[in-house]
Amino acid sequence: MRDETNKSSGLIRGRFGEGMSEVMEQINASIGFDQRMAMQDIDGSIAHVTMLCEQKIVSAEDAVAIKDGLEVIRTEISSGSFPFSVELEDIHMNVEARLRELIGAAAGRLHTARSRNDQVATDFRLWVREANDRAIALVQQLIAVLVEQAGENTATIMPGYTHLQSAQPVSFGHHLMAYVEMFGRDLGRLRDCRERMNESPLGAAALAGTSFPIDRARTAELLGFARPMRNSLDAVSDRDFALEYLAAASMCMTHLSRLADEIVLWMSPQYSFIELSDAWTTGSSIMPQKRNPDAAELVRGKVGRVHGSLFGLLTVMKALPLTFSKDMQEDKERTFDGADTFELCLKAMIGMIGDMTPRAANMRAAAGAAHATATDLADWLVRELGLPFREAHHITGQLVRLADKHGVRLDELPLAAMQEVEARIDENVFAVLGIEDSVNSRRSLGGTSPECVARQVEEWRSRVKQSLA
Ligand code: ARG
Repeated sequence: MRDETNKSSGLIRGRFGEGMSEVMEQINASIGFDQRMAMQDIDGSIAHVTMLCEQKIVSAEDAVAIKDGLEVIRTEISSGSFPFSVELEDIHMNVEARLRELIGAAAGRLHTARSRNDQVATDFRLWVREANDRAIALVQQLIAVLVEQAGENTATIMPGYTHLQSAQPVSFGHHLMAYVEMFGRDLGRLRDCRERMNESPLGAAALAGTSFPIDRARTAELLGFARPMRNSLDAVSDRDFALEYLAAASMCMTHLSRLADEIVLWMSPQYSFIELSDAWTTGSSIMPQKRNPDAAELVRGKVGRVHGSLFGLLTVMKALPLTFSKDMQEDKERTFDGADTFELCLKAMIGMIGDMTPRAANMRAAAGAAHATATDLADWLVRELGLPFREAHHITGQLVRLADKHGVRLDELPLAAMQEVEARIDENVFAVLGIEDSVNSRRSLGGTSPECVARQVEEWRSRVKQSLA
C-alpha cells in the first residue's frame, strides 16, 4: 500500500482539504488508456532531466538517481509488474509517484520547469510519430505487394467499369496500379504530416514557458525532434498533429475500403475473378460450400472507426479556447483506436493482395461481354471515315442495338448488316473489335495497354527499391 503522499492527492492537491468524489475520480482518470504512452513518458522525462542536469538546474547526483529510477520503472512496465493506480489519474502521475517510492525526495525535482501540459503534448506527439512511422512502413509494403501482383498481370484482361457496368476492357495490372497511385499519395500525406509534427513541445511548461534557464533545443534533439515548437501557448494547446495523422489514415482507409469492396465483388461466384486461399477466407456455420471474404468486408467496415476517430477528435478540439483544457484528454482513446484499426487493416490488405490468385479466364470472358469494344468501333468511324465523334457515337449505338437484336457480339455482326447502317464500313473494322486489340491500342500516357502498364510497374518497382514508395 502506498502512503497518502504518493497519491495524486498527495502530489498535487496541497491546496485541497478533502479527497475527490468517486465519480470525479472516474471521469478525471486517464490511466486506463494513457498507460499506452508509458515508454514515451519515460523517454520524455529522461530527456528533460538530462537537460536539467546539463543546465545545472538539477544536480548530477539527483539526475542519475532519477534516470536509474525511470529505467527501473521502464522494466516494471514492460514486465507487467508496475502497480498502476486509478487514484493517480494518469501515466505522468503514476510514473512520478512510483519514482518517489523508488528514489525518495529527489523524484520531486524531475518536474522542475515542466508541466503535465507540455509533458502530455510531448508524450502524445512521440506516440503519434511512432504510429505514423509504422503506417508509412505498412503502406510501403502494401504498395510493393500490389506492384508485384500488377507486374504479373499486365496482360490479364478484365472488364473496366463505370457505374459498375462493363465499360471498356482493361488490364488487371492497370486496375491494381490505380490503387498503387492512391496509396502512393497516402504515403506522401503521411510523410508530410510527419515533417510537421516533428517539433518538440517540451519546455513550454504549463503554457507560458519557464523562468528556469532550460535548453529546449537540447531536449528536442534528445527526443529526435527536428526543433522545438516556436510558441509555448501553441505547443500545449494544439493536437493538429494527431488530426493530420488521422486525416491521412482516413483517406487511406477510404482507398482501402474501395479495394476491399472490389475483393468482395471479385470473390463472389457471379464474378469469380479472383481466388483467396483458406488463410484469408472463412466458412459459414450453416452453408458448407461458402467461402467468405470476411477480412475484406471488415476492412471495408472498419473504415467507419478510423473516420469516427478523426471526426471525434475534430469535434473535441472545435472551439476550445487557448490553451490547455481537460477536454483534450479525450484525444487519446480515439487516436489509439484509429491507429490500431488502420494498421490492422493495412496488414490484412497486404496479406490478401499477396494471397490473391486472379482467374484470368473468367475475367477475360466477362471483358468480352456487353459490347465492351463499342468505343473502339466509334473511334474507328472517326479515324477511318472522318466522321465527327458524336455521329460515330450514334451509328455505333445503332450497331449495338442491331447486335442485341441478333443476339450476337459486335464483332460477330456480319459486315453486310453493318453496312446497312453505314455503307462505308469495310472489313478492316474487325481489327478494332477484338478485346485484345482494344486493350493493346490504348497506349496514351497512363493508358491500359500492357506495355504502358509494364512501364508503370517498372517505375514503381524502382521507387520501391529506393524506398521512395
Ligand atoms: N491526463 C492529462 C491528459 O491526458 C494530462 C494533462 C493534465 N494537465 C492538467 N493541467 N490537468 O491530457
